[in-house]
Amino acid sequence: MQIDPSEIAVQKLHHLLLGSIAPRPIAFASTIDKKGKPNLSPFSFFNAFGVNPTTLIFSPSRRGRDNTTKHTYENVKEVPEVVINVVTREIVQQASLASAEYSDGVNEFLKSGLTMLPSVKVRPFRVKESPVQFECKVREVIETGDQGGSGNLVVCEILMMHVDDAILDENGIIDPDKIRLVGRMGGDHYCEAFGPAIFDVEKPLTNPGIGVDQLPDHIRLSKILTGNDLGQLANIKILPDDDAIEQAKEISGDNTEVSIHKLAKKLIAEGKVKEALTLLMTLDL
Ligand SMILES: Cc1cc2nc3c(=O)[nH]c(=O)nc-3n(C[C@H](O)[C@H](O)[C@H](O)COP(=O)(O)O)c2cc1C
Repeated sequence: MQIDPSEIAVQKLHHLLLGSIAPRPIAFASTIDKKGKPNLSPFSFFNAFGVNPTTLIFSPSRRGRDNTTKHTYENVKEVPEVVINVVTREIVQQASLASAEYSDGVNEFLKSGLTMLPSVKVRPFRVKESPVQFECKVREVIETGDQGGSGNLVVCEILMMHVDDAILDENGIIDPDKIRLVGRMGGDHYCEAFGPAIFDVEKPLTNPGIGVDQLPDHIRLSKILTGNDLGQLANIKILPDDDAIEQAKEISGDNTEVSIHKLAKKLIAEGKVKEALTLLMTLDL
């Protein structure tokens, strides 16, 4: 199906975007109004866009149903400061509770049962139970439109970060199994960004792989190897040399193309990508 966004209802478009641009990280944004009353709400239109200067953006949008604005948006216009707290598996239900439309001036820290922790450089409070808290100043707010569903991009710069030592591995890097982040998907769906959900993809880095176009046709057009298999084979920096291929011929023997492709697929799954490519190339001898 093809969709022209100008031809479908805003709500339908919203569902399509939320379902396809996912999972999204969640900014648990703590703000205050000009009287100093705290507010806490989650926003998954959120990401980091630069580190020098640090740039975090989240969007408390205009409501699609009645074009009203959210307290968080009004607060950052009044007091341009925010603490963005990350949302973990342990506090996701409380973060969801804080998204309820409480009236102006209601403190969602109290409603959600989370603990207010004073900040160092800004006035809004931190969420004690969140393992990473970013104290930010709001550099600008970009209104993308004035109709229901339009975004209000709150562009933030980090003034102070708080990172719980308990989420770090022995090299001082954040360990996904310790921080236990969750992501927002479409509908009521969330996902866990830890445990069996985590897998690694080797970075191509500066020395690019040969590319799928350089693989012999029988590999490229294989009915057994998948796109992911080809992606790994083509990440190799140089094709195996003739000597290596000759040696591999002793393993491949007179096996058929199908059985060699199946064996290569198994080797790739075991992380032996170079061996797999060498074996596959015995078919070109
Ligand atoms: C996980 C999660 C993510 C959300 N993301 C957004 C978002 O990106 N933008 C938005 O306008 N509302 C989002 N919402 C809804 C707001 O949290 C909700 O409208 C809240 O009542 C706003 O509170 P406020 O009026 O106190 O600012 C989200 C809700 C949840 C539970």
